[in-house]
Amino acid sequence: MGEFGNRVAVVTGGARGIGKAIVRLLHQNGCAVTVLDSDKQTGKVLEKEFDGCRFLAADISDFAQVQKAVRAVYEKNGRLDFLVNNAGITGDGLIVRMREEDWDRVLAVNLKGAYNCIHACLRYMLKCENAAIVSISSVVGETGNAGQANYAASKAGLIGLSRSVAKEVGGRGIRVNVVAPGFIHTEMTDDLSDEIRASYLARLPMKREGTVEEIAAVVSFLLSERSSYITGQVIGVNGGLYP
Ligand code: NAI
Repeated sequence: MGEFGNRVAVVTGGARGIGKAIVRLLHQNGCAVTVLDSDKQTGKVLEKEFDGCRFLAADISDFAQVQKAVRAVYEKNGRLDFLVNNAGITGDGLIVRMREEDWDRVLAVNLKGAYNCIHACLRYMLKCENAAIVSISSVVGETGNAGQANYAASKAGLIGLSRSVAKEVGGRGIRVNVVAPGFIHTEMTDDLSDEIRASYLARLPMKREGTVEEIAAVVSFLLSERSSYITGQVIGVNGGLYP
């Protein structure tokens, strides 16, 4: 049955990349996972790949869509234990040239999306014991990054959001933590030029990209009772690329 037998999770952006690795690990450990993702085509493939896993098409920046999807998860499973706020986008550009729509969209998905999901899930999580939320920030949420003011602001915002919610719901036994990945090998990073990749790697003490499995392992730990006294924390998984 696995560590998460009988437990129910919502993972946003689980159709690919880091989110998919999180789905795989939770599913392997017996968790009933529902993926909320805007990518209908890739998302549907998940239900075939992971038996019992459910996919719901939703844009997490849309309050009403998230409320509806999360209610459907609760109605189907009768409980909701875990939320992983993983979906995220970039819209890079130097601040003087950054278009208002790029600022708004990145904040809407990365930060308001997390608010939407936390708001929708908490009422059901309050009914469970040992519920937990993990949000995926980024090392640049702590360091800042030229050309990513919107992304860095959204990822820093996730930390403030999570620490506030941790204080609000800690007394109800719900833990809220953040994972801040560094440079992780995904389809997105496959597109980087050799030059940019080399410049990242040169700054990395461990001299290699992280893997999606290395992020999933920490997320799984933070959801599990193995981390029962950890809340309001930001765990860097970054190969030594300290803020
Ligand atoms: P990805 O781009 O491969 O996957 C993101 C997923 O989110 C996709 O399935 C996409 O369809 C979904 N998504 C995007 N917008 C959505 C929306 N409005 N509603 C619902 N779903 C939506 O990204 P990756 O690389 O797997 O990253 C996952 C998370 O980790 C993101 O929050 C990203 O910012 C963060 N991160 C990634 C790093 C990396 O090196 N790959 C480093 C640090 C943080």
